[in-house]
Amino acid sequence: MSLEKEKFILIKNAISKDVCKLVAREFRMARDMAGLVPYPNEKFPYKDTQVEKSFSWYSPLCFEALSDSIVKPIVEQYIGEAVHPTYSYARIYYNGATMARHMDRSASEYSVSCCIDTESNHPWHLGVETVRGEKIYVEQEVGDIILYKGNDLYHWRDAYTGNEQINAFMFYVKANGSRSELKFDTRPLLGMNSHSRRLNSEEQWEKFSSK
Ligand SMILES: [Fe+2]
Repeated sequence: MSLEKEKFILIKNAISKDVCKLVAREFRMARDMAGLVPYPNEKFPYKDTQVEKSFSWYSPLCFEALSDSIVKPIVEQYIGEAVHPTYSYARIYYNGATMARHMDRSASEYSVSCCIDTESNHPWHLGVETVRGEKIYVEQEVGDIILYKGNDLYHWRDAYTGNEQINAFMFYVKANGSRSELKFDTRPLLGMNSHSRRLNSEEQWEKFSSK
């Protein structure tokens, strides 16, 4: 199976179970601290526009670090050239969470979806539309990553039947490609919030939507 031909590839055990355990704990700590702020009329105050029943966070430090240290060399090995990390993102998904079919944004030339924590009796797989137009579900266990061409591959998730699942996403552009300007998602440094970007998502899309 080739990334260039199929637009995605499953890499088993890319991240060790111990590393996943560590970042899952750190991300849940972030969720619990954020939850101390009262939002009396909002059940999912940290949802985003894609997934309502979730705790969603742009570029948490633990996943920025994972992206830049452990995952980046794996991506470079598979695509055969140097990449820049753009941003990371993570969610804790709750029962009933769904994600509509979509492609990723401009800074996601190469996307990585990693299963960080899951409930073994409630596996929740990523839906993918193949180059042949088939709709398939890619099975992921903790530590497995799906590396895919973010602007070329439709993907989605059907309703989640468990209590909590954590997935993390890490995005890259080719260091010597047409989108290298999107390094760090146009932030001065990894780890900074989205307000520190020189170009927001819409501005990036306008500049780079035509490949
Ligand atoms: Fe996506």
